[in-house]
Amino acid sequence: MYVLNIGTIEGILPENVTRLSGGDMATAMTSLTDAWLCVDSDGTIAGFGPMSALDVSSLQGHELIDAGGGMVIPAFCDSHTHIIYAGSRELEFEDKIRGLSYEEIARRGGGILNSADRLAAESEDRLLESALRRARDMMSKGTGAMEVKSGYGLSTESELKMLRVAARLADAVPARVVSTFLGAHAVPASYCGRQGEYVDYLITEMLPAVAAEGLAGYVDVFCDRGFFTVEETSRILEAASRYGMKPKIHANELDCSGGVQVGLAYDAVSVDHLERMGDEEIEALRGSETIATMLPGASFFLGMPYAPARRAVDAGLTVALASDYNPGSSPSGDMRMVMALGCIKMKLTPMESLAATTINGAAAMELSDVTGSISIGRDASFIITRPVSRLSYIPYAYTEPFIHKVVIRGHMTD
Ligand code: NIG
Ligand code: FE
Repeated sequence: MYVLNIGTIEGILPENVTRLSGGDMATAMTSLTDAWLCVDSDGTIAGFGPMSALDVSSLQGHELIDAGGGMVIPAFCDSHTHIIYAGSRELEFEDKIRGLSYEEIARRGGGILNSADRLAAESEDRLLESALRRARDMMSKGTGAMEVKSGYGLSTESELKMLRVAARLADAVPARVVSTFLGAHAVPASYCGRQGEYVDYLITEMLPAVAAEGLAGYVDVFCDRGFFTVEETSRILEAASRYGMKPKIHANELDCSGGVQVGLAYDAVSVDHLERMGDEEIEALRGSETIATMLPGASFFLGMPYAPARRAVDAGLTVALASDYNPGSSPSGDMRMVMALGCIKMKLTPMESLAATTINGAAAMELSDVTGSISIGRDASFIITRPVSRLSYIPYAYTEPFIHKVVIRGHMTD
């Protein structure tokens, strides 16, 4: 398939570049104007170049797509989501409007435990149905790769159910899907007052069962005030490492929790959230391979401070932005909004925000050798926009539906 008459291709990277840090986030991705792009039959990018050097009459027999002067940008790579859940939590949303905090709602048995009760009562097929609906919605908004977490199960049976749904989801959509085991998302009601015993149960029963079915490549812990401690996190990460599961953890959302440091001690692929991050945490992340993943949709929805993306990029870190799509703190998987919030609220430039939502998101899923940029041999996963003047128009006109078509691994989505 050839895409012709592209106004500008943005997000081009050499094939050997798999993440962008610090100043490179603004400068490394290059562009090409008045261009064509060729998609191989295996769903990867076969080539691209200037229209002026293309003999269109030689393309007979190929499927031709006219971009009509629109822009091509890489599809978004959403490295942090919780899209497998039952029901929704708009009643808690009303409580929040009346002034209750996220933590107060959680203490009253709402929040994650509310979702856990509902998930326990839902069949695997029905869970798949709703997760598929969310994934398709995300793809229609330009997402070509996503991470999916468990964490509303909180029992071996229900966590396995969630992760089996994630595996079926991965087979059912063209987008790439990676799975993370988040058994330590909250302490279930049945273990109330016995948090240590829950951690023991997670380590001795849940983890081996997840590993036996090969259902998750990553492990996550909600390491924060009122949830899991640094010591508990350490025990879980230690145990998970024996099964080859790498950490991607929830850290520093509610407090300077020590989450960043414990993540670093276990070579986390990413530490995520980071709304409460001081110089100490930024310093600790410098020089490490761990990606700083920030979730502006949760800050927007909960009225929390935004993670210090500007400071982190200026300090040379690798920053990714993700949606955190979940029913409690970010009921949206719209990466267009995430990219816009990166600019509007976090003061990233449009190019930095693009890097954070594409190649660095892919890196936070360890997928950036195969997706996340316009590079020969990587996934043909990209958005064709309506004609736009320049990249900054996209986060600037932040509610305008700029997407004309989405191609994911060579499949045109509808
Ligand atoms: O990333 N912070 C922890 N977990 C999710 C929220 C989950 C929920 O409220 O259901 C998050 O924000
Ligand atoms: Fe999350």
